[in-house]
Amino acid sequence: MTRRTIIVIGATGLQGGSVVKELLKRRENYHVRALTRDPKKPAAQALVALGVEVQQADLEGGSDSLIPAFAGADAIYALTDFWAKQSASAEIAQGKAIVDAASATSTLRHLIWSALPDPVKMSGGRFMNVHHWKTKSLVTEYIQEEHPALWQKTTTILFPNYFENCLTYPGKYLPKQDSTGVYTHSFPHSAGTLLPNVSIADTGKLVQIILEAGSTYFTKTIAFYAQALSESEKLAELGEMYNIPTRYRRISASEFQRSLETGAGMSEEIALDFTEQLMIFEECGNVYSREEFLQASEIPGLTLTTWSEFLAEHNVALRKSLQA
Ligand SMILES: NC(=O)c1ccc[n+]([C@@H]2O[C@H](COP(=O)([O-])OP(=O)(O)OC[C@H]3O[C@@H](n4cnc5c(N)ncnc54)[C@H](OP(=O)(O)O)[C@@H]3O)[C@@H](O)[C@H]2O)c1
Repeated sequence: MTRRTIIVIGATGLQGGSVVKELLKRRENYHVRALTRDPKKPAAQALVALGVEVQQADLEGGSDSLIPAFAGADAIYALTDFWAKQSASAEIAQGKAIVDAASATSTLRHLIWSALPDPVKMSGGRFMNVHHWKTKSLVTEYIQEEHPALWQKTTTILFPNYFENCLTYPGKYLPKQDSTGVYTHSFPHSAGTLLPNVSIADTGKLVQIILEAGSTYFTKTIAFYAQALSESEKLAELGEMYNIPTRYRRISASEFQRSLETGAGMSEEIALDFTEQLMIFEECGNVYSREEFLQASEIPGLTLTTWSEFLAEHNVALRKSLQA
């Protein structure tokens, strides 16, 4: 069997890094080309040390600059990173550049597109400010409407809340200890509001299965989550496993938004975007479980990490963050 060339955008980050790691387990099947804006950065150099082909590419450069980076590709794992620029127009332009360049790649047999659902559609027009979801859903529509031939070989993955957010953003996702020693988690959800969650380190497992499944997942939109859990349930499990007292405190959406502005230094617009995405689950339920999406739990052979397994695996790092 000839090795397939798989392009991975975001290979130095969480999603793409997981994809690279999984594909490297099957070097006989895959040649991985990792894209980065800066091949000299340590994360890119670490990929070089693993024998990965690392190529410089910036999504800001438009489709013409991506065409050489995609040359000879059998498949592309594609993402855009809203948080790098926090600009809706930039994310849409980057997404369209990927799509245009992918469309112009004659060898391409599969595009795997990392997306989020349309927040306006999901909420029946109640939440209009979730830019980082809307941008990705507009790019999905762009593939469908402007590049129908590419859409026929595209798999869209909807990403949920990462378990890893509590490591990357402990201020938002981990409880804080008060003067009485209790660890309180303040969040704008009722105690029973379910949020889809996954360990982002499992991305590679899903992508590898999709790549091996021929046309099975073409045109499908996969809701990629291991468990629908409330933040209150996650907190209780954390308290039990680490043997610490916990308290869940529901705060209003506006109080949560203010805490993002003052505590996390977000602009008003971005804090509203972040808060509204959470409120979709409060007001509209677990929209990822809707019938229009293929549920990751229905994908044969895919075993995803649970929250309790994640807590056990990251015991040392999480305890350290809790004490910080
Ligand atoms: N955190 C969550 O819970 C969550 C949930 C659902 C969806 N998401 C989405 O996930 C996306 C981020 O993915 P991630 O978590 O894997 O990010 P990450 O770990 O922060 O890594 C970002 C990656 O994007 C690459 N990148 C950024 N700007 C680029 C550009 N202009 N050109 C080329 N590459 C660029 C970076 O590569 P270099 O720096 O090496 O160039 C890096 O590899 C965001 O759009 C976010 O909305 C996040």
